[in-house]
Amino acid sequence: MQYFIDSASIEEIKEAISLGVLDGVTTNPSLVSKTGRPFNEVAKEICHLVQGPVSLEVVGTTAEEMLREAKQLRTYGSNVVVKIPMLSEGLKAVKALSAEGIPTNVTLIFQPVQALLAAKAGATYVSPFIGRLDDIGQDGLLLVRDIIQIYRQYSFKTKVLAASVRHPIHVLECAKMGVDVVTLPVKVVHQLTKHPLTDSGLKTFLEDWKKVKN
Ligand code: G3P
Repeated sequence: MQYFIDSASIEEIKEAISLGVLDGVTTNPSLVSKTGRPFNEVAKEICHLVQGPVSLEVVGTTAEEMLREAKQLRTYGSNVVVKIPMLSEGLKAVKALSAEGIPTNVTLIFQPVQALLAAKAGATYVSPFIGRLDDIGQDGLLLVRDIIQIYRQYSFKTKVLAASVRHPIHVLECAKMGVDVVTLPVKVVHQLTKHPLTDSGLKTFLEDWKKVKN
């Protein structure tokens, strides 16, 4: 399973890179807005920093606009994955980009048949949003399970990129299901390293070590 960081913050991305387990980055317009910086500046910096795929999202709502934006986004780096919202117009754009060999990530997936359509259009990744479904009392992990079942059934090559991940249990369940990629907020990256028994165990080891005659 690959780990991406879901962030447009250069500090957070650098922090994730320093842990040595980062495979890529996903961003969205809200994350870019939080940085308070111009989009093109942030996008170029992220693409330069990160070796793996970097999802940058279009904001147009017609296929024509999306394709125009995609061309611009790809000038920021050869690792750019064009992130496209799950709309009928989005599917047209994905189909055209896929024919040109340009990688895409279809985002805002909330039901399995949306993921089926995205795969048929040739998407490289689909992003089911787990936490946002949980937030409205639906089972986000069930969505991921259904998508994996459908993709296996028809041998689709589209990768499942679990998004809107809120805590380590989401990551654990995704790993058990064989999800291709999880994209994590930096907070969850840190949570993954923690267990209270690890902390108390280390404290005891270090205290006992002081009693050892060297
Ligand atoms: O980048 C898409 C997704 O990960 C957003 O997550 O926490 O805003 O639902 P969240």
